[in-house]
Amino acid sequence: MKILLFGIAVIALLTGCSNSTKASSNVKDRWYTKAQVKAGEQVFKNNCAACHGTKAQSTPNWRTKLADGSYPPPPLNGTAHAWHHPMKALEYTVKNGGKAFGGKMPGFGNVLSQQQTKEAIAYFQHFWNDDIYNDWAKRSGLK
Ligand code: HEC
Repeated sequence: MKILLFGIAVIALLTGCSNSTKASSNVKDRWYTKAQVKAGEQVFKNNCAACHGTKAQSTPNWRTKLADGSYPPPPLNGTAHAWHHPMKALEYTVKNGGKAFGGKMPGFGNVLSQQQTKEAIAYFQHFWNDDIYNDWAKRSGLK
């Protein structure tokens, strides 16, 4: 049992480390620049972090419905669904929120400029590893 727990801890540590080192330098071959990620960090902290977490990591149990039948905010850091959705769909959700598909996220169309919307997306995408990013880029017609 102890060995099993130790194994799990090591795996968690290894995957945690590789994700974070990759994340910090992830602008090569991507649609965004480092400056956009930096600007996006501020946009994200001010508008999105309360629900999605400062590193876009919330909520771990995003697949479990809440008492009212809606879902909690999903992680946007590459561990959930966001990478299934091409750029246009991500922009649509940020602008219009989740109402169109029965969700609760508010729309930011009147709060954020087009540029800030893209910066917020750049920020959470810089947490995606290359496999996930490249898959998404193909779906978005960028590669
Ligand atoms: C009040 C809480 C709240 C805030 C603030 C919020 N979101 Fe959300 N977000 C949600 C919820 C809840 C969902 C799941 C869909 C739904 O219920 O509308 C979601 C879904 C999403 C999705 C779709 C995820 C997917 O799998 O494709 C994206 C993208 C997203 N949010 C980005 C953002 C960005 C960027 C911001 C800030 C500009 C933001 N959200 C602010 C609660 C929030």
